[in-house]
Amino acid sequence: MSPYETLLAEAHGRPFAAIVGWPVEHSRSPALHGFWLKQQNVDGHYGRLPVEPKRPALEALVAFLKRTPNARGCNLTLPHKIDIMPLLDRIHPEAVRIGAVNTVIKQADGSLEGRNSDGFGFLSALQEGAPDWRAASGPVVVLGAGGAARAVISTLMQAGVPELRLINRTQSSAIDLGVAFAPKDGRRIAVERWDERAAMLDGATLLVNTTSLGMKGQPPLDLDLTGLPRGAVVDDIVYIPLETPLLAAARARGHRCIDGLGMLLHQGRMGFEAWFGRKVAVSAEQRQAVMAA
Ligand SMILES: NC(=O)c1ccc[n+]([C@@H]2O[C@H](COP(=O)([O-])OP(=O)(O)OC[C@H]3O[C@@H](n4cnc5c(N)ncnc54)[C@H](OP(=O)(O)O)[C@@H]3O)[C@@H](O)[C@H]2O)c1
Repeated sequence: MSPYETLLAEAHGRPFAAIVGWPVEHSRSPALHGFWLKQQNVDGHYGRLPVEPKRPALEALVAFLKRTPNARGCNLTLPHKIDIMPLLDRIHPEAVRIGAVNTVIKQADGSLEGRNSDGFGFLSALQEGAPDWRAASGPVVVLGAGGAARAVISTLMQAGVPELRLINRTQSSAIDLGVAFAPKDGRRIAVERWDERAAMLDGATLLVNTTSLGMKGQPPLDLDLTGLPRGAVVDDIVYIPLETPLLAAARARGHRCIDGLGMLLHQGRMGFEAWFGRKVAVSAEQRQAVMAA
């Protein structure tokens, strides 16, 4: 059976969506949407669809979503978030701003709209974990300039951060993002050097790790937190493991810490609500269910 046939068999005529990536076996999305399907008593399905990183494979995905009556859409993960964009009928302005799509919604007329909920997920998790943190209250440090950084930087600038210090191993990628997301109102995205990262923590209200350092199979993020003000929030969007070495070190210094699972769960709300027509909330029970999976 092809992955499409498997997905159709699992859905068994019910409305369905899926996580699309290459690979997708490791994805937590089926667990998080599976929790909501059960909780909301929705007779639907959320599966996995491995799709090769080639244009014909993405074209086949788009054709499949359009011709299959019970297909409601999909989530996209690496490496498809940008390559899918020209194949969709409409891109939501937020996804245009971020420059990537992580959620595809099939409209009533069968057309496909691309959206991005990563920024919403990031900000929702931050607000949940640090409700009194205010974007306007001071400088923010963001480490990393990959795909996830785009949503984080765009969202922080939209939220009103006065100064964002952007630091990436490959400085040219940070410069590109600094240009892409620089607001026209005089606020700054300052691109700093990777080996200067510890010195850049001075006066920051928030430190965000968007690099893959600290993730299972990757080295830990090597960062001396001594210069970070005690009141600063530390947010690591890596979610495998949940307690990264960065968060463990920050917690030991008394910082408020936010792990990557909240962002993952909150970003899922937009897709679920559009595909299955139910408003959902993130809960401790869902966290437990996804962690157990
Ligand atoms: N919580 C969530 O919902 C969520 C959502 C999306 C992603 N994530 C997580 O965020 C992380 C990044 O994802 P992504 O999609 O942005 O990946 P990506 O596009 O591949 O970017 C990887 C980033 O990590 C940096 N990096 C990798 N290895 C490094 C090293 N040895 N030293 C210094 N920097 C290094 C890269 O720097 P260079 O540019 O120098 O290579 C780049 O900035 C992953 O752990 C992913 O699981 C979480």
